Amino acid sequence: MTVTISDLRQRPDFFDTVADRIWRAWWKRHGVPLDYIMVRLRENLATAGLPIALVAHRGDEFLGTASLIASDLDERPHYTPWVAAVWTEPELRGQGIAPALIGRAVDDGFALGHQRIFLCAAPVRRAFYLRLGWTPIEEGVGPLELTVFVRQRLDAADAP
Ligand SMILES: CC(C)(COP(=O)(O)OP(=O)(O)OC[C@H]1O[C@@H](n2cnc3c(N)ncnc32)[C@H](O)[C@@H]1OP(=O)(O)O)[C@@H](O)C(=O)NCCC(=O)NCCS
Repeated sequence: MTVTISDLRQRPDFFDTVADRIWRAWWKRHGVPLDYIMVRLRENLATAGLPIALVAHRGDEFLGTASLIASDLDERPHYTPWVAAVWTEPELRGQGIAPALIGRAVDDGFALGHQRIFLCAAPVRRAFYLRLGWTPIEEGVGPLELTVFVRQRLDAADAP
């Protein structure tokens, strides 16, 4: 499948779908209204740089989303930026869409000048990020027992 990864600023037609998926996956169960997520996401689009919302699509078909945000874990405010809100449509999982989104988010972070990109994951997703080459740097963080992962930029001097 040919997957295109776009910045949501370039494909605002996917705005409602991205907001809906982020809301359903992470906020609805906590009683947060969809309107609140839409306002926050719209603010994102008005700025350059972080935060970045990415959308995976095939033409006009929505496949998934991921974000690169300044902070994601209250317990670790000194780490930035973070890959977050990674989502693939359920019927399209297992085809490499999330890895493509995550890879693009990391590249965008490096392009903005960050040397390290972070990500936190629940135990159920730990193996997934290990397979993608992320390095765990902390385990059991916070009440959700999250693993904190890092991707380090390889400068030319470090390359083999
Ligand atoms: C986690 C998630 C983003 C992975 O997305 P993806 O695009 O399916 O990623 P991949 O293509 O690399 O597949 C991931 C693995 O899940 C397996 N998988 C999970 N659900 C699947 C499904 N419904 N159909 C097929 N494979 C599935 C795949 O086989 C694959 O295993 P592998 O790495 O051993 O091949 C996706 O399952 C998702 O959106 N989950 C809900 C939101 C979430 O938990 N986000 C992560 C927060 S840390």
